[in-house]
Amino acid sequence: MSNSHVTRVLFVCLGNICRSPLAEGVFRELIREEAVDHRYQVDSAGTGAWHVGEPADRRSRAVAEKHGIALEGRARQVSDEDFRDFDVIIAMDRENQGNLERIRNGGSARLHLLREFDPEAEDDAEVPDPYYGGPGGFDEVYDIVHRSCVELLEALEADRR
Ligand code: 4NP
Repeated sequence: MSNSHVTRVLFVCLGNICRSPLAEGVFRELIREEAVDHRYQVDSAGTGAWHVGEPADRRSRAVAEKHGIALEGRARQVSDEDFRDFDVIIAMDRENQGNLERIRNGGSARLHLLREFDPEAEDDAEVPDPYYGGPGGFDEVYDIVHRSCVELLEALEADRR
């Protein structure tokens, strides 16, 4: 892969209001800190349509803010076009991954589970859905997402070399 190539990364969960906006925000912060943001295009989406157009859940925004990250996107639903428009699609859990495989209609995006990159996770580990839980669930999701995104960025940078 040439060094001028932009790597397009899409994070996907169910609603696109809790987990994937947080993953998008954390990844954006990491590429900015590492001064490689010009090499990446980053977005997030949900497999479901219930929350399309909404900002991120206030609990996700609160945990992101604690870490100096502003979540500014609006929810959108993933589409089969995303498999052509992105190089890498990162699902938060196996249900998201299964739904993505079902809607896929060609495209060359590579599909992964985020926790494949979590140095502390067992095989097939998932980012738990925090929507119906308390705020502590969002801190846990932040920690999982942060340590996984650090390794994801390392893997994507290694792919570029
Ligand atoms: P997310 O969380 O997939 O991390 O955005 C959820 C948001 C909304 C719903 C479920 C999970 N919901 O059922 O509306």
